[in-house]
Amino acid sequence: MTTPHLSAAPGDYASTVLMPGDPLRAKYIAETFLDDVRQVNEVRNMLGYTGSYQGKPVSVQGSGMGVPSFQIYATELIRFFGVSRIVRVGSCGALQHALSLGDVVLAMGAGTDSMVNRTRFEGRDMAAVADWGLLLRAAQAAEAAGMTVHVGSVFTSDFFYDPNDNPFDLFERHGVLAVEMEAAGLYGLAAEHGIEALAMMTVSDHLKRHEAMSAEDRQSSFDDMTRVALALL
Ligand code: HPA
Repeated sequence: MTTPHLSAAPGDYASTVLMPGDPLRAKYIAETFLDDVRQVNEVRNMLGYTGSYQGKPVSVQGSGMGVPSFQIYATELIRFFGVSRIVRVGSCGALQHALSLGDVVLAMGAGTDSMVNRTRFEGRDMAAVADWGLLLRAAQAAEAAGMTVHVGSVFTSDFFYDPNDNPFDLFERHGVLAVEMEAAGLYGLAAEHGIEALAMMTVSDHLKRHEAMSAEDRQSSFDDMTRVALALL
């Protein structure tokens, strides 16, 4: 079955899909961590792959940036390819001083300035939350691997470049760990379709301390987080 944005055939995706924003990260994950890999999508260069990790089938599909792009790919994976578990593997900007570059954030819940979940819930607020089993197992796997992991709320913004004053102080006061651009869309979609979902992000920059990770450090902490995501299989 080909969908408007995925040229894959029926059965081409595994039931679990890791979704990085960057399609080249999907290619990197597939080539670095998976066995028996084949490319299943190249429409718009939004690369997708299916292979196995320690004998278990898994797919990796780029999502693009922001809620609308993420939801296009995730919706087609769920509706047309029977995907029942999606793990976002991305990056985020930290807001709390307890967080450092390279730490892992597991989004227990996600607030947002996007309208998608309000629209889904017919004008009401919706609790956009992670699957508890995935969240628990990811926290345990990250801690067992010696990583510094933070579990809590994130804010999913439609703006990377906000035209108004950044609301970062407000978010910080309310305990929001970090800002990113997709988690709330994933969680709303997961609730709509009854699938399991988790968004995990490495801290690539610190918005209060004005720090950013080097390219090499980005790569190694992304690798560590990817292993945690794959441990969920
Ligand atoms: N804003 C939104 N998404 C992000 C950021 C940010 O500052 N850093 C990494 N992903």
